[in-house]
Amino acid sequence: MDFGYDVSDYENIDPMYGTLADFDRLKKLGEQHGIKIILDLVVNHTSDQHPWFVNSRSSRIAEKRDWYIWRDGKSRNPPNNWIALFGGPAWQWDNATRQYYYHYFYPQQPDLNWRNPAVVAAMYGMSEWWYKRGAAGFRLDAVDTLFEDPNLKNDPVLPGTNALGDPNVENKYNDKLPEVHTALKGLRTVADKYGAVLIGETYTENVTELKNYYGDKHDELQMPMDLMLTGVKFSAPIFRNHIKAVNTTGEWPVFVIGNHDIVRSWNRYGDGQHNDQIAKDMAAIYLTLRGTPILYYGEEIGMQNNDPKHREDVKDPIGRRGWPKEKGRDGERTPMQWNGAPQAGFTSGTPWNPVPTTYKTYNVADELKDPNSILNWYKGLLALRHTNAALLDGNYIALNESDPNVLSYLRKSTKGAVIVVINMLASPQKVDFDLSAQGLNAGSTKTLLTTQASLKTNSSVQHLAMEPFAAYIAEVKSK
Ligand code: NOJ
Repeated sequence: MDFGYDVSDYENIDPMYGTLADFDRLKKLGEQHGIKIILDLVVNHTSDQHPWFVNSRSSRIAEKRDWYIWRDGKSRNPPNNWIALFGGPAWQWDNATRQYYYHYFYPQQPDLNWRNPAVVAAMYGMSEWWYKRGAAGFRLDAVDTLFEDPNLKNDPVLPGTNALGDPNVENKYNDKLPEVHTALKGLRTVADKYGAVLIGETYTENVTELKNYYGDKHDELQMPMDLMLTGVKFSAPIFRNHIKAVNTTGEWPVFVIGNHDIVRSWNRYGDGQHNDQIAKDMAAIYLTLRGTPILYYGEEIGMQNNDPKHREDVKDPIGRRGWPKEKGRDGERTPMQWNGAPQAGFTSGTPWNPVPTTYKTYNVADELKDPNSILNWYKGLLALRHTNAALLDGNYIALNESDPNVLSYLRKSTKGAVIVVINMLASPQKVDFDLSAQGLNAGSTKTLLTTQASLKTNSSVQHLAMEPFAAYIAEVKSK
């Protein structure tokens, strides 16, 4: 139903993706290459096929009845006005036991009752089972919605309807309840026994909410994802404000610009004309900021959304429900484009989702041969951030903070300094820097990476003439 986000056995691998033996092999191979394996762990809900839920729905007095959230309706209606993210009421009527159960996502994904200590113990135990098997940590799915208001207060209703045709509601009573933090502290306690990492799928509204996920004593998620940049326009002031706010928290940022649930970054930030340049700018930004970037496969070659053209081709149920306004998430889940051969070299069979026609030029093999490709830009940036001391752990210092078009900043450590300058506009821009306040000599720089040919041998940032959407990264000498 939800391609793996509907777990019916927590101690196995969905046959669609492989076997436990495959996991063990992957872990071993990873070890040989210094790569650790983390898993996506769904803790908010199970599949309705999970034996826990099968038991739970079997009768009102079933042993696991209280492992999920069952309630009486209100005069033939659901218990309250909560709306499921994937469409329709968040309550599903069960005719056999004549009650409703709660699901934040699809009806086939009933929410676990995290207020039941037996559920909490089962989830902690299950995480431990995977650590013992060799998982180095988890990407925790949907942690925002682990808890619901026990009194089931109605959510505030906003004007209009959403893309799925449901009333717009603010998820005030079923999203980010304070109890989430208790659950995360518990999961962290188990993770710490194994030196494991917890990354959170945390859709926060603001930096305060994000900061909370690290835990008041740094005892929750080591890496809550900052997904906020995915919802904003490609704009220097917007990016600058957000980056500053995140850095002000003092926490270690985790920037994410795309994933399997949202339109690909190439399309989302692109202006329809300069998407390749903008993709390079995005890479330059989030790979040089302080923090850990999380890449979504294909970003590094400029993969584009390939949305279904007809409703009958849609695999993702949200897309079938919301067609044509909401086409679902198939478009960002297409095969990796390895080369220009049929199916982009991904398979000799028929892939689950079709490759976009652009795979002929946007693929690994061809981009490797082109020094100016998005892939080679990513490779350069990744190599740089692994070796440059200022990029590894330098401070973030915003520059030219009132410039509406060019985003620029320093990364500075005791071992050196790097300046990053990004023209976020389709017109040429002039920028001046005087870095004496930072103890640096703006007249003595060495280009590390740039998209602008004329800046390759540049040796000063006192006056820079930037071409449209140009990115420039240079080492700056001390005064
Ligand atoms: C977030 C996952 O990223 C998404 O793909 C999934 O559908 C929902 N959580 C429900 O598990």
